[in-house]
This record gives sequence, structure tokens and C-alpha cells, in this order.
Amino acid sequence: MKKSIIILGFIIISTFKINAQAYNTLWIPDTLAGTTFNLTALDTFKQIINTGTQTITASFNKNIWGPTLIFNKWDVVHMNVTNKLADTLTVHWHGMHLPAIMDGGPHQTIPPNTTWNPTWQVMNNAATYWYHPHLDMMSQKQITEGLGGFIIVRDSIESALALPRTYGVDDIPLAITDRDFNTSHQFVEVPYGDSIMVNGTLRAQFNIPAQVVRFRILDAAIETSYNLGFSDNRSFYVITTDGGLVNAPILISGTTPRFLISAGERVEILVNCTGQNGTSVFLKAYNASLPGNIPGGDVFGGGPFASYLGHTNYNILKLNIGTPTSGAITTIPSTLTTNTFPLAASASLTRALTISDSAGVSGILGPNAFIINHKLFDINHIEYTVPLDNTEIWQITSTSGFSHPFHIHDVEFYILSRNGATPPTYEQGWKDVVLVKAGETVKFIAKFSDYADALHPFMYHCHIALHEDEGMMGQFVVGNAVSGIMDIERNKNLMIFPNPTTGILNFKLTDNTPIIKAEVITTHGQSVMEEIISNGKTEINVSPLATGMYFLRLTDNKGQSYVKSYFKE
Ligand code: C2O
Ligand code: CU
Repeated sequence: MKKSIIILGFIIISTFKINAQAYNTLWIPDTLAGTTFNLTALDTFKQIINTGTQTITASFNKNIWGPTLIFNKWDVVHMNVTNKLADTLTVHWHGMHLPAIMDGGPHQTIPPNTTWNPTWQVMNNAATYWYHPHLDMMSQKQITEGLGGFIIVRDSIESALALPRTYGVDDIPLAITDRDFNTSHQFVEVPYGDSIMVNGTLRAQFNIPAQVVRFRILDAAIETSYNLGFSDNRSFYVITTDGGLVNAPILISGTTPRFLISAGERVEILVNCTGQNGTSVFLKAYNASLPGNIPGGDVFGGGPFASYLGHTNYNILKLNIGTPTSGAITTIPSTLTTNTFPLAASASLTRALTISDSAGVSGILGPNAFIINHKLFDINHIEYTVPLDNTEIWQITSTSGFSHPFHIHDVEFYILSRNGATPPTYEQGWKDVVLVKAGETVKFIAKFSDYADALHPFMYHCHIALHEDEGMMGQFVVGNAVSGIMDIERNKNLMIFPNPTTGILNFKLTDNTPIIKAEVITTHGQSVMEEIISNGKTEINVSPLATGMYFLRLTDNKGQSYVKSYFKE
């Protein structure tokens, strides 16, 4: 008798142990607020799998997922991004409207042990954005390692609404991704993982109060789209698109309420859990209903694309509904904002872009790459020059057999049509990523305002990191001016020519003040050439430097300095 009680006790304890292992509490990233933000990229370890070897990760400020940056619209923010990784890094502020040189695309490299200090005025609407690595051909690797974090923008319109806004309580960020682990618990760099991670947590669960709860959902995956829904098929409300509130909450209902989110996209939803204290529900991906040409709806028997999660339904997050908070939001607002989108008639031109599979292109391209405008990415090629303040329609015609989340930097756009038809209501808002489905033509409209810089490009690309790394990317500059943004105010007296240059760069101050020192600085602030100027010399030979963008900094005989950007061909 006694013995069997002990055995029974042992069984209960081991069952508890298994249950305890079944779910981990969702990690809610720390927040950073104010106007100065310090981010340090580090090689780190984390106990992601419950027991045994830790996983080698890379992260911002020690944790994956990195800190959530809280910005207020119109603030001028200063970022100090220190790279303590063994690799070069870039950090892109996805969705932010800012000067190209602050954008953190492939050009703004941060070598190991250096700090990059971009600054800009926040002009985006209240919504959920994010930051992530964007190094040429390295995005998949660095995102897989865990580098990334949320940006939450607040503004006066959103703040005035009765919306859940207590971070980590009724306003919950969810960065959804999937990973593969090898038998030593290390990340494997693959497009589709077998294990879902939310904010860096495997098998996550979270306690939410029995009231209206807001989820800020980001598809942070390398490739997968998630067809989101709840295990009890409850309805929910979409309140934002990528770049702002929609005019009024959009009810997603019916027998199977679903919302398809693709890599890079964000959506904020409201879920009404009022009166459901003591119950639980799963946020799930219903990918079994996705066609094979949507990322995550495809099935591969083996090889790098094989995944247990392909074309199947699976849990993302367990939600345990508990007691409501005081001051709980219990109703859904009827209106949110009044958006004014550019009218098609206001566009000065339509740019026709193509997405295709390289299989049809002879010679140079590998058999499996996906391409934009029939070419692979070339960091020295600028595809478009967009005049400052132009309103443009971008028409993307895909002949690809697969769907691609197309993303553009600098602007938020409005989708005019999908295959000629008005997009669904939940896409009628500010967007910066649009899933261009296989064989589809998507038209969007955007205005390219505020930041002209003929030397520093913005990117457009497929947000599937693998496709981006393989070359599914292009670049554009805004503005026709020959001088860069850094030139505008500070350096009216300085002339440099020719620009671009292949070797000799001439310089001159218009008032002929003698120059005593010339220095070449990279776009991340590293000095790569310095010369003491004597005998009235007015040139510097930059031919030893690699192709790219640089700043020339001159010091005159009174110690005053002048900076201008130039391009070395
Ligand atoms: Cu989120 Cu160019 O990317
Ligand atoms: Cu793609």
C-alpha cells in the first residue's frame, strides 16, 4: 500500500514535471523610452530549450527578443548602436520615415566594436514597427541568431482613444517566428523552422486579463506566413495596418476568422475576453488551409525547406485568461482615426516593377533565385531616382510561382488594387509590406517626401530574408540634387568635385580660406584616410578606397571643419 502510494506520487510528480516543461512564460521585452536609446548587439547564450545545452544567440541588450523602443511622434530620437558582435552589423528601423543615411540598410555598416549614431525626427503614426539586421547577404543569418526588437510609436490621436495600453498586461507584443534546433540545441539557418518561438520563447503561454486585450503582432519569421486565428474560432478586431490605425476597427468574424500575416508585416488586434476569467484559448496558425504557393503552405519531403509545420495547423501561444485589471477596457471603440490616402489621380507616374523566377533567365542567375526587374541585387546599381515630393504608383507584376512579401523603405503606402480589385478592408491602411501572391499584380501609391539624398539609397525587397540575401532587392534614391543630405546646411562654402569620383577629389572653400587637413570618413563615422594639406594643395587621392559612399571632412586654418559626402566609383 505504502509502496504504491510512493509510486503513484512519483508518477504525479513526473507528470507535473512534464506539464511544467510543456509551456514557458512568454518573454515580454524590456522597454526603452525617452529620446536617447542605447542598443548593444552581443553574442549571447540563452536557455531556450528547457534543459541541457544553452543556445548560442545574438541579441540586443542581452535578451532575445531585444528591448521595445517607445517613440513619441515628433520627438527627435538619438540612437547609439554599439556592435559587440564578431561580425559587421547593420540595424534597420523597419517602417520608419527617415533620412536614407539613418535608415540602417546594407550601406550603413557598423563594424565590430564601433558605435553608429543615427538620429531623426519621428514622423510616423502610432503603430507597431521593428528593428532588425539588414547586412547584404547576411540578413537571414543575423535574424536567425535572434537580433531584433519592436518599436512602438505613440501619438496624440492614438493616446486619446480608449484602447488597451498597459504594456505587457493588456497591450502585448508578439514577435512570431520559427526556428530549427540541431541535436546540440543550436539554431540551424533554415527558411522554415520546426519550432514556434514568440518573443524568443518556445511553447509560450501568457496570462491575460478578462477584458479587451490588444496584441501587437509581428511576423518576424525568415520566410513563413501565419494564417492566424484562435482555437475557439472567436472573432477579433484589426485596428492597425503596418503604419498606423485604420479608420475604424475591422471585425474579423465568421465560422473561421483568420488573418494572414507575412514576413515583416505587423497588425494590432483587439480580442474581447470580458467575462472569460478561468478559461484558456490558443492563438494558432491555420496553415493547413494555405495553398502551396504561400510561404508556410508548402510541403517539402526533405532538404532545407522541409518543416514539420509546413501546410499544417499548430499552436503559437497559449492564453490563460485571469482576473480583469482595474480600469479594464471592456468595449471596442467604434472609430479610431481619419486617414487621408493619396488619390491615384495625384500620382505623377506609375513605375512598373516585375517579380519573376530566375529559371526563365538564361545564364548568370542560379536556378532557384527570385528576382525583381529581371536582375539580382547589385549594391552599386540605383534602379530609380524618385523626385522629392513625388506621388507615385508602384505596380508590381509577378509572374513568380510563389508569393513574396514586398517591402519598401522610406514610405508607408496605400494599396490601390490587387489584380485590379480593391484590397480587403484590413489592407486599406498604411502599409510597408504587401504579400504579392503568385502571378498577382499589386498597385500601391506613396508620396516620397521630406528626405532627398541623391547619394544614399533606400531599399525595396522581398522580406523573406533568404530571398533578400539571394538578391531579391533593389535600390532607389529620392531627389535629383547632386549633394547629399549631410551637405544641406553646414557646408554651403565647400565645393567638392568631381562627384562621383574614381580617384582624385578636388575641394575648395568658396571664400578661399586655406585648408590644413583632409580626412575621409565612412558612413558609420570611421576615419579611413587623413592627410595634412600643405602648399595650397586642393585635392586628395581617394583611389585606394573601395567603391562606396564617404564623407570628406576638411579643417581650415582656424580649426573650423566642413563635411560633404561623395561617392567613390
Ligand atoms: Cu524589414 Cu529592408 O526591411
Ligand atoms: Cu521572395
